[in-house]
Amino acid sequence: MSQKIYPVPDDWKKRARIDEATYRRLYERSLKDPDGFWAEQAQRIDWITPFSKVKRTSFDTHNVSIRWFEDGTTNVAMNCIDRHLPERANKTAIIWEGDDPSVSRHITYAELHEEVCRFANVLKRHGVKKGDRVTIYLPMIPEAAFAMLACARIGAVHSVVFGGFSPDSLAGRIADAESEVIVTADEGLRGGKKIPLKANVDAALDKVSAKTVIVVTRTGAEIDMQPGRDFRYEEEAARVHADCPYAEMDAEDPLFILYTSGSTGKPKGALHTTGGYLVYTSLSHELVFDYREGDVYWCTADVGWVTGHSYIVYGPLANGATTLMFEGVPNYPSVSRFWEIVDKHKVDIFYTAPTAIRALMAAGEAPVKKTSRKSLRLLGSVGEPINPEAWEWYHRVVGEGRCPIVDTWWQTETGGVLISPLPGAIDLKPGSATRPFFGVAPEIVDPLGNVLQGACEGLLVIADSWPGQMRTVYGDHERFAQTYFSAFPGKYFTGDGAKRDSDGDYWITGRVDDVINVSGHRLGTAEVESALVAHEKVSEAAVVGYPHDIKGQGIYAFVTLNQGVAASEHLRKELVHWVRHEIGPIATPDIVQFAPGLPKTRSGKIMRRILRKIAEGEFGALGDTSTLADPGVVEELVKERPGR
Ligand code: WT7
Repeated sequence: MSQKIYPVPDDWKKRARIDEATYRRLYERSLKDPDGFWAEQAQRIDWITPFSKVKRTSFDTHNVSIRWFEDGTTNVAMNCIDRHLPERANKTAIIWEGDDPSVSRHITYAELHEEVCRFANVLKRHGVKKGDRVTIYLPMIPEAAFAMLACARIGAVHSVVFGGFSPDSLAGRIADAESEVIVTADEGLRGGKKIPLKANVDAALDKVSAKTVIVVTRTGAEIDMQPGRDFRYEEEAARVHADCPYAEMDAEDPLFILYTSGSTGKPKGALHTTGGYLVYTSLSHELVFDYREGDVYWCTADVGWVTGHSYIVYGPLANGATTLMFEGVPNYPSVSRFWEIVDKHKVDIFYTAPTAIRALMAAGEAPVKKTSRKSLRLLGSVGEPINPEAWEWYHRVVGEGRCPIVDTWWQTETGGVLISPLPGAIDLKPGSATRPFFGVAPEIVDPLGNVLQGACEGLLVIADSWPGQMRTVYGDHERFAQTYFSAFPGKYFTGDGAKRDSDGDYWITGRVDDVINVSGHRLGTAEVESALVAHEKVSEAAVVGYPHDIKGQGIYAFVTLNQGVAASEHLRKELVHWVRHEIGPIATPDIVQFAPGLPKTRSGKIMRRILRKIAEGEFGALGDTSTLADPGVVEELVKERPGR
């Protein structure tokens, strides 16, 4: 733990909406009187029918139920668009920066209204009704936000699938959501490279069925169009009305499903609902990022991840902000791209992932320093623990020592930020996410569930509900209860380890389950393993994470081949390619080690603890191997470890 402290700068203290004393007072109140606190905060959005009940939640393993503002009604698109029109019709809602630096577009709130209404009417024309699931498989173009908000407007439930996922992964998500309408583009464009989105949808629909595919034109590439199933968005949009009334939704009606990896099985559909999610994301967007009217706010995530949902689309637009959407990548056409965009659009608030910082850091200071960045006021980090070295560089080089960094810890499941400094209130420590947000009750427990006090290290749980929390695993409430509420009954288990220091600041140490975090993307080792064993030459596979300088964690696969199959460099490459093809490029294994045998207990359980140590190169710390069925296996693996 770095002991360095960056106190709140004086100018921040002076203009802080929340200073330290206010933070303490409000935080305490939010835990003691959640009903009173959240009833007040919920006034920040417009309700159609006001709620009379605030919080009705149970974390009891056998009866998990999470309901906020349940008798209120509202509409998310109305809150993100319509209610801003009287004051902000001509204000820019979305700045879209294309992959090509000469291409950008400003969309006002009035234009956003029309675009979303048209999109909603196109969906309606194709039979989409309240509660229906719509799969969105789009690149980072404004239509992704239009489509999400269009679903919200008519009460359909979107399931956004990241454009980097393979046809197989897409098919699994379409099937699980029982989604009959898919929205995609002809191709995506990132870093000058084309991604064949429509072709991927076609391949997915060879395996699962859907009634309708709506195709947005991005590159104009030639694509196959299946008559009666596939429709060009532009042609459809020209046929519909430019206005569409919003649907009245219950606070607990579903807003979206977002698939995320766990330690076992296939990805889970995290279900988020309407009222609580919007209250939580808009409040946290305002306070964590110190968002103020007139700011240009930029989160570099993809809308395929929860960060894009909560902090590109819903939180910022609910606050009437100008949110920037970037189609490209940090190193195209050059490694100055992020900072050139900051200068071009005078970005005030910039939110990115440690993996991007580390990659840019490796390219040196010059590409940063040739840009001005004087518009920047605040920096943010999300997705994985940020190493103090990267934090210092981000602070000193990118922010020129002037911009606080908010290290925001949260998850797909949490809907919004749960632990983060509030700039202006909380002193910063490189590598620490510091303090819980209002209404969030973190605890550190030991493996038996004993709550640890004071400075300590253990497992991170949250003792009570907050409005942005996911409500269930789509179609499998039992899995929801088992995954999150059974390890420590009565508490939400995050899957993360954490330390708390003597000041009460939290330090997230990383996943304690079989989830790995590769470049801020979450993957289950079981998913990669099942892709590997699906290959005809593989008999068994065990996958673990290992420290990687840029990605945070890399993917290390131990693979046992079928009898009679010879290991070769060619086969190694084939397996790497195979996994990319099965899941998507984010799952590309960094190291494949052929293993004649895997370390197993006498009952046949693979001892991952040992494999992790081998992958980390910690050969001296393999621990007790005496319970292994064949201890000789370990020696062999150590000897053959690539790069040794
Ligand atoms: C996991 C959640 C939250 C949106 C992006 C990832 C890790 C996330 C931090 C942080 C340390 C972090 C955790 C968490 N994580 N942010 N600031 N410090 N770790 O969402 O894909 O659901 O992944 O990402 O391990 O459990 P996700």
